Amino acid sequence: MFNKDIIVEIFKEIAKTMDENKALLTELDAAIGDADHGINMTKGFTAVKNKLESIAEEDCSAILKTVAMTFISTTGGASGPLFGTAFLKASSSVVGKDALSNDDLLLLFESAIKGIQMRGKAQKGEKTMLDSLIPAYDAMKKSLDIGDSLIDALNKAEIAALEGVEFTKTIIATKGRASYLSERSIGHQDPGATSCYLILKTINNVLKNRESLVE
Ligand SMILES: Nc1ncnc2c1ncn2[C@@H]1O[C@H](COP(=O)(O)OP(=O)(O)OP(=O)(O)O)[C@@H](O)[C@H]1O
Ligand SMILES: [Mg+2]
Repeated sequence: MFNKDIIVEIFKEIAKTMDENKALLTELDAAIGDADHGINMTKGFTAVKNKLESIAEEDCSAILKTVAMTFISTTGGASGPLFGTAFLKASSSVVGKDALSNDDLLLLFESAIKGIQMRGKAQKGEKTMLDSLIPAYDAMKKSLDIGDSLIDALNKAEIAALEGVEFTKTIIATKGRASYLSERSIGHQDPGATSCYLILKTINNVLKNRESLVE
């Protein structure tokens, strides 16, 4: 169980992570896209951080809705609406909650993935952010199902996400600008899968540092 203050802290840390990895994400997108993924992510999450610093939201759902609306209104490209929809669906899955249980987190994660799929019409294996998110979700669910702690489950999710990022190097892009490259997209790591891995890693780090507050 963790409370809404941790969610705010997570988003502040994600903004920092994206800023630190701006060049890497842009470089990855330069190889198979239009070299703006680092810019999009940094812009979106910095706006989210600033917004969350200036308001006091009532519950987890309201925080995630603010995140979604801020992201959508500031971030362009494919990733703006995709992440925006993910956060919006995540928000709808935890209405009225001041703290999130492990089951809430799983539902939130699943809803976010469904939002991305609804918006982008992609499946796993198309060289997108879903290639790190879906394996991460599956690993987290499996881990919690066998009774692991949240920290252990998130560790497994982070490892699965990184494996997913590696996997994107081996497949052809069939969605987004990268799909224009066809076979030439092989050998390149997907930027969106990478940023999603970084997000999961950041969540994990925040929770590890706050382990005493996470039951
Ligand atoms: N239909 C989709 N479903 C899920 N993720 C997608 C889809 N299209 C693109 N992506 C993800 O978005 C990332 C690119 O995001 P970026 O911020 O660079 O936006 P963009 O330049 O408009 O995207 P793109 O060039 O892919 O249309 C890709 O690396 C991929 O992970
Ligand atoms: Mg791009």
